[in-house]
Amino acid sequence: MPDADPLSGFAVLERAPAKINLALAIVGQREDGYHLLESLVTFTAYGDRIGLSPAAEDLFTLSGRFAEALAADGDNLVTRARDRLRAALAKHGQSAPPVHIHLEKNLPIASGIGGGSADAAATLRGLLALWQADLPKDERDAIAIGLGADVPMCLVGQPLMARGVGDSITPLTMPSMPMVLANPMVGVSTPAVFKALASKHNQPFVPVTGREGWVSLLSRLRNDLEPPARQLCPDIAALSESLSATGADLVRMSGSGATCFALYKSDDAAQAAAADLGRQHPHWFFVATRTIGATHGTH
Ligand code: C5P
Repeated sequence: MPDADPLSGFAVLERAPAKINLALAIVGQREDGYHLLESLVTFTAYGDRIGLSPAAEDLFTLSGRFAEALAADGDNLVTRARDRLRAALAKHGQSAPPVHIHLEKNLPIASGIGGGSADAAATLRGLLALWQADLPKDERDAIAIGLGADVPMCLVGQPLMARGVGDSITPLTMPSMPMVLANPMVGVSTPAVFKALASKHNQPFVPVTGREGWVSLLSRLRNDLEPPARQLCPDIAALSESLSATGADLVRMSGSGATCFALYKSDDAAQAAAADLGRQHPHWFFVATRTIGATHGTH
């Protein structure tokens, strides 16, 4: 018999999809050290899940494949998001009573696909729904960016172009695409990757053109964080080669790594590749999924 769903019975359920940087250019650096970027971002059907219910006192529980890694880490963006939202609501005289939050952690930790940021964004969305509360957009956005540079884009949760430090966001039209996510099960430190960047001033992306297919457009773009991440984590090169050997249309690293993604023409091809790779590399993480498609103006 399958295990019972750890999220059944919760009053509010939120999905926390993986964030994929399909391309990422580092085009400058602010005086506070944060980097200016341009990134084409999408989200996947695969991700973490969050359940929220009223409770006698605040409670945070975890399940899922990567629950242990997060618990050991000690710090988590879910409880930070809860505390900051509650403090902001208090200033408006809105009530934010105790809550049980359960996180099903399906995404690898510190892996360049925004797991913690997705969880923080899902927590903000879920708590506003549970508490039937509302915050002015600028205050909500300030909480999001204060939790992490990727949290604002995770709040949008549909294909987008991000600029600035990731907080200047334009939604995009993009199709849903079959994808394999792959991780060598080695965490990579985001600050260390930024520090190892050879140049902080790289070529900006050419504007997205009308008729070109996404795979062909993306093939011309790059992730500027991939070379420094490969230096720090040699497994990324091996992982990327094994993905390329499956006949993927495009293979690239997401964010500061080490997760790489591969695009395929069909779900069958993505599923077959993930299954084959899982047999060849049983200690690495592979999952076949799809990106979330969106039409501009629908969010
Ligand atoms: O904002 P977040 O906590 O996700 O960022 C982690 C680290 O990544 C920052 O402390 C910073 O070193 C680096 N970073 C950066 N420029 C960005 C985003 C993150 O330098 N745009």
